[in-house]
Amino acid sequence: MRTWIRSLRPFDSIAVQTLIERTIDVREAERFIRLFHAENPAAGPPQARLREVAADIARYGTYAHTFAELEFGARVAWRNSNRCIGRLYWRSLRVRDRRQVTSAEGVAIECVEHLREAANGGRIRPTVTVFAPDVPGRPGLRILNEQLIRYAGYRTADGRVVGDPRQADFTDLVRASGWRGAGGRFDVLPLVVRSGRGGPLLCTLPGDAVLEVPIAHPHYPWFEELGLRWHAVPAISDLCLEIGGICYPCAPFNGWYMGAEIGARNLADVDRYDQLPVVATRLGLDTSTERSLWRDHALVELNVAVLHSFERAGVTMTDHHTEARRFLTHLAREEKAGRVCPADWSWIVPPISGGATPVFHRYYDNPALTPAFVRHK
Ligand code: ARG
Repeated sequence: MRTWIRSLRPFDSIAVQTLIERTIDVREAERFIRLFHAENPAAGPPQARLREVAADIARYGTYAHTFAELEFGARVAWRNSNRCIGRLYWRSLRVRDRRQVTSAEGVAIECVEHLREAANGGRIRPTVTVFAPDVPGRPGLRILNEQLIRYAGYRTADGRVVGDPRQADFTDLVRASGWRGAGGRFDVLPLVVRSGRGGPLLCTLPGDAVLEVPIAHPHYPWFEELGLRWHAVPAISDLCLEIGGICYPCAPFNGWYMGAEIGARNLADVDRYDQLPVVATRLGLDTSTERSLWRDHALVELNVAVLHSFERAGVTMTDHHTEARRFLTHLAREEKAGRVCPADWSWIVPPISGGATPVFHRYYDNPALTPAFVRHK
């Protein structure tokens, strides 16, 4: 292959090289088609489809998934997500096929619709919207936000951050593009969609697409005064969905929250909202010594508040004890089906009370399987 490229003139060789790099891997495609037919006996034997896919790749450098393949591929990508404790319901993922959408405006509009359908008035539905894949010579669009909904982090002159420090770089970026936020702690960031040509599109999300929950505590009325809130739908938007060698760079997906993600990380981490000292002080705990376990006590009350608030608002949320048990059920089912369930211990074990959940007390296989949600450079 290399000699052949070298025999071309330099200009051609660049074009050919680019084409080859972007041409999808036939073996990956074949492996996926076989998996699809093995797990979907109703689709019949794979031979005819395999021939068709191989011919398309030879001719066009790529092939197109049927809707059934896309739906299955997206669900298996969730099943293969080794960091996710919530995979018991992988078969219930709703797949919105928006491969025909190729404009930045179209992506923004469909993301808004995704958020409305996924939030579903509080009964959250795991959903993925799949936009156009990368094809030879024409990369797909991308969403630059880490999630469809995130809160701005404004850097102040004295080096602090108002809002979510995790979003400080992204907030710098959108401010440089002309976005002006209100300067609050929970300002929803605009969506940024980048297309191959032309500058990125900035788009503010309409309020009715952003379901949020104010955080209150079942026993401490003062808790509401902290002014904490969080969004109901975690929709990761910066990973590629890879199926059978095809990369869908724009495929935002969501599940529902496990309380500890918010109560033990987003609102608690020192480099996020850092609320433990505030909560501990209001609780009247002795913060002068670690041995009072004021951090632990504050963590528990913050997590009680998060779970209580979502419940009160009628928004789907799970707790880490229930979800840990469900995960082991999922693992057992996968083993029974003759599959390995890849799992990363350091992500599966919840960030509070790890040892009080059953997922702590064992190790896991962790092979990298595809289809998958992956980060590309
Ligand atoms: N941990 C992330 C967050 O706090 C969300 C990751 C996905 N979580 C989920 N429950 N599907 O926003």
